Amino acid sequence: MIDEAKLHAFIGQMLGDLGGASSVAMVRLGDSLGLYKTLFAGGPMTSGQLAKAANVHERYLREWLSHQAASNYLAYDAKTETFSLPPEQAMVFAHEDSPVYMVGGFDVMSALLDNQPKVEAAFKSGKGVAWGDQGGCMFCAVARFFKPGYHNHLVQQWLPALDGVVEKLERGAEVADVGCGHGWSTVLMAKAFPKSNFTGYDFHPSSIKDAQAHAKAHGVSDNTRFEVGLAKDYPGKDFDLVTCFDCLHDMGDPAGASAHIKQSLKSDGTWMIVEPMAGDALEQNLNPVGRLFYAGSAMICLPTSLSQEVGAGLGAQAGEKKLREVITSGGFKSVRRATETPFNMILEARP
Ligand SMILES: C[S@@+](CC[C@H](N)C(=O)[O-])C[C@H]1O[C@@H](n2cnc3c(N)ncnc32)[C@H](O)[C@@H]1O
Repeated sequence: MIDEAKLHAFIGQMLGDLGGASSVAMVRLGDSLGLYKTLFAGGPMTSGQLAKAANVHERYLREWLSHQAASNYLAYDAKTETFSLPPEQAMVFAHEDSPVYMVGGFDVMSALLDNQPKVEAAFKSGKGVAWGDQGGCMFCAVARFFKPGYHNHLVQQWLPALDGVVEKLERGAEVADVGCGHGWSTVLMAKAFPKSNFTGYDFHPSSIKDAQAHAKAHGVSDNTRFEVGLAKDYPGKDFDLVTCFDCLHDMGDPAGASAHIKQSLKSDGTWMIVEPMAGDALEQNLNPVGRLFYAGSAMICLPTSLSQEVGAGLGAQAGEKKLREVITSGGFKSVRRATETPFNMILEARP
């Protein structure tokens, strides 16, 4: 027996969901054509004025603007026929350093679609899809998605939440950023602590090249270097701090990584593990953040882990309990949640 009221409510949800899905291509268009930034810089504009300012075809632009106004991404004034980007929406679409800049999230959604054929085959075979074999520039999308969080929290909140780490970094410490990807976390730390040395390791050679380019562009080549290396056998030793940003759950052998990280640390060193926010039980993650992370996990994280040795397949929503088990299995004696944001938990492990 169909409950009409429940059906209507669910169709309402579906309309919202399909609208959101339609925004993936539309937001990415607006971003790559510079429409958000041009509109924000210029203030309220008609479609003709913005077409001129952004150097795009007015007829196409009018359709895009109409979609954006229907989405509440832009404001529309019917009297003057002008569109504008309200300051709150500008934080999401135009200000790359804002804590809620989310265009990278739309890039990730597009990467999920690119990954679909390979992941679909993996659902049948149970095999993995290697990080480097995944679709489009998934690496760029992931790096862009995480960067605003690191930019706004890493130096300001996360490092100070660790016991005695900022003092060491200020004096001059040796740091390894393991699974560094495009290296934004490494570059931010290197900029903030010029007396310390930072080595980024990642097993994906093209990400290491991008990380080197980012370090150069941000003027931190002197105290950073990036090397291709596996989390469980990178060569460096005697680190004061090892960091893992949103990557432990992607590894095939996170317990092996934990053991290797421990032996690469000084006896009074610290391992900082940044992982997606998640509860230990599924029912704690049935919310909008969990929804996004489970999709990323199924389409990116799980295939990455299952493609590697051991294939632990922790998933992005492993939860603190499972993460603690992995971390302590490598020989770490204490693990505590140092701090958190709505999207991340920051764990501090000590040998
Ligand atoms: C989700 S990305 C995060 C990248 C980066 N830390 C960031 O926050 O932007 C996961 C990273 O882990 C790396 N990775 C996965 N398994 C690895 C392993 N076993 N050893 C080294 N790197 C690994 C991938 O190449 C990828 O760059």
